[in-house]
Amino acid sequence: MEIIIQSNPQTATHVAAQIIARQIRNYPSTVLGLATGSTPLMLYQTLIEMNLDWSEVKTFNLDEYIGLPFEHPQSYHHFMWENLFRHINIREQNVHIPDGNAEDISQICQQYEQLIKAAGGIDIQLLGIGSNGHVGFNEPTSSLASRTRIKTLTQQTCHDNARFFGNENDVPRHVITMGIGTIMEAREVLMLAFGTNKAQAVVDAVEGPVSAMNPASILQMHPVAKVCLDESAASFLEKSEYYRWVYDNKPAWQEI
Ligand code: GLP
Repeated sequence: MEIIIQSNPQTATHVAAQIIARQIRNYPSTVLGLATGSTPLMLYQTLIEMNLDWSEVKTFNLDEYIGLPFEHPQSYHHFMWENLFRHINIREQNVHIPDGNAEDISQICQQYEQLIKAAGGIDIQLLGIGSNGHVGFNEPTSSLASRTRIKTLTQQTCHDNARFFGNENDVPRHVITMGIGTIMEAREVLMLAFGTNKAQAVVDAVEGPVSAMNPASILQMHPVAKVCLDESAASFLEKSEYYRWVYDNKPAWQEI
């Protein structure tokens, strides 16, 4: 894992934006895995301002709530179109988000896996992390080999996401999420985490044992996993001095 600690969310976002922008410039038909939540918002804004050419880019979102109409302000369809897609020149047919309103959820989960394969796999998968270590909506105790499927949210996640819905009871209990096995097949994984409420999940993911109790800890087994943190999210890391040392001493030829 490459741990990149920056002084604030702005500079950490800048590093992540450079990684994604370089990928799109070098490989115009790149396949990106995208995330929702408050963490990647600044990154999407930065990418919009970079005026990149998204015309050949394909995207696959990690997850979606079940039963929310697409136009609901908290559906991830709505989130992605409002915060990224409608501001860039991506083609609608190249955008993929699990359909939480499908009649046959298990069928569309299988189809989603096939679509990712048919696109040639995901080049860079962007991830946030839940305060309990979830990635996508793979809650603690999710199978580390799981594929795209339905999940029931934990009470903690319903509580965390209540701020978007106004009322905890309005947070849907069920979601579709790419599995941990699906995420691990991406060629590169880029996780962002900001703020003290992520510090425990981050230290467990980066320095704890690999365990389904913290699904993000599986990234220790990924050959190209980068983690961009602000100071607060990094504040519990035991080896933070070492991570800073490594980053500051990167040979120029070895890009981020
Ligand atoms: C949500 C999303 C995750 C996201 C996480 C953290 O439930 N499904 O993909 O990473 O929670 O969200 P936030 O960035 O708002 O803290």
